[in-house]
Amino acid sequence: MVKLFESIAFRGVELGNRIVVSPMGMYSADNGYVTPFHLVHYGKFAMGGAGLVFVEQTSVSRKGRITNGDPGLWEDGQIDGMRQIVHVIKSQGSKAAIQINHGGRKSSQQRAFRGNSHLTDRDIEMGEETWVPTGPSDVAFSDGFQTPIPLSKDGLTGVRDAFVATARRAVLAGFDVIELHMAHGYLLQSFLSPLANFRTDEYGGSLENRMRFPLEVTRAVRAALPSATPLFVRISATDWIDGGWEIEDSIVFSRKLKELGVDLVDCSTGGNLRAGSTNANLGRGPGYQVPFAERIRHEAAIATGAVGMIRTPDFAEKILQDGRADLIFMARQMLFDPFWALHAAEHFGLTGNFEKWPEQYAWWLAKWGGALRANGESLDGLERYREAAE
Ligand SMILES: Cc1cc2nc3c(=O)[nH]c(=O)nc-3n(C[C@H](O)[C@H](O)[C@H](O)COP(=O)(O)O)c2cc1C
Repeated sequence: MVKLFESIAFRGVELGNRIVVSPMGMYSADNGYVTPFHLVHYGKFAMGGAGLVFVEQTSVSRKGRITNGDPGLWEDGQIDGMRQIVHVIKSQGSKAAIQINHGGRKSSQQRAFRGNSHLTDRDIEMGEETWVPTGPSDVAFSDGFQTPIPLSKDGLTGVRDAFVATARRAVLAGFDVIELHMAHGYLLQSFLSPLANFRTDEYGGSLENRMRFPLEVTRAVRAALPSATPLFVRISATDWIDGGWEIEDSIVFSRKLKELGVDLVDCSTGGNLRAGSTNANLGRGPGYQVPFAERIRHEAAIATGAVGMIRTPDFAEKILQDGRADLIFMARQMLFDPFWALHAAEHFGLTGNFEKWPEQYAWWLAKWGGALRANGESLDGLERYREAAE
């Protein structure tokens, strides 16, 4: 049995396979509202056969946006556009997930494809809005970034409530899975990491104190979700920086998440910086983050998602066969090949008659495969047509 194509259930939600389109910010929303671009973008991945399609990091508040182009669910009017995306994803047989986020000290930046840096005077002249971000402490993310305003106790309550209200709206929009973004230096991870959190109250200092606010948010969101709705959490399993957040911290944290009813830890890394530095020592190479998913899965006894430079069906399958993760998240390779899941099924010989493809395509592809073979031609995947299709 090919594990990549084995179904898996989280609470009341069954995914048809283990392939997940990882959250990817497109920075293309209009004042927090999704657009036709998003419908096409996400619908395409669902048509491509992934078991779970993530809608990108979506802001819980206007000032929690990383950029002016981030989608949001901070007001009810934003539900309808998301509902349409969910409808399109589900119409193709995939399940729909959303990652909810507050950008913290990395808020108020330029969109990634326009430089991914702080907003310049010229950007502001061109109409980009800028605002002072909030964070755990008054320490900027990096040179040139604004110094955040430390959140007061009331501010923390407001952010927690915004996560809850956003999660509720996501459920109303029809999402099957909700994920809290606790990675990449955004607000919740910046509470966890000693590189960003210098508080002297009960939310800073010891590991227990630094975990307190992210765990409060988790508890409140879990309580607001229907019991059948899975809750995932994306973490940065390590900051990759000496004196920062380490894998051992992630294991302790994942055990706490499990106690609170979190269903899967999605294991990313990095994205946070020590003040004044510009570069984290990122490990790179195929599957470079898989060892973190593996350790957390075994040592915290919770399901994990592996992500990062996983490109080939054989490698993805081996990660699952070796028991290193439960789901395979893929980002850039999905941009390159949105039909990756269907091509992977072909690779494993699972859809000799293209039966996993949209029925509107399958018959034609099978016929075409036959015609190509008769011509002595071959096109990767298509040569595995069945006699019956000729
Ligand atoms: C265009 C783009 C946007 C991304 N946006 C997000 C995001 O919204 N939330 C998130 O947690 N990670 C985001 N990521 C990180 C990916 O989800 C993924 O973890 C990373 O790209 C490594 O996986 P890959 O090697 O398969 O691309 C983004 C990556 C890309 C390429």
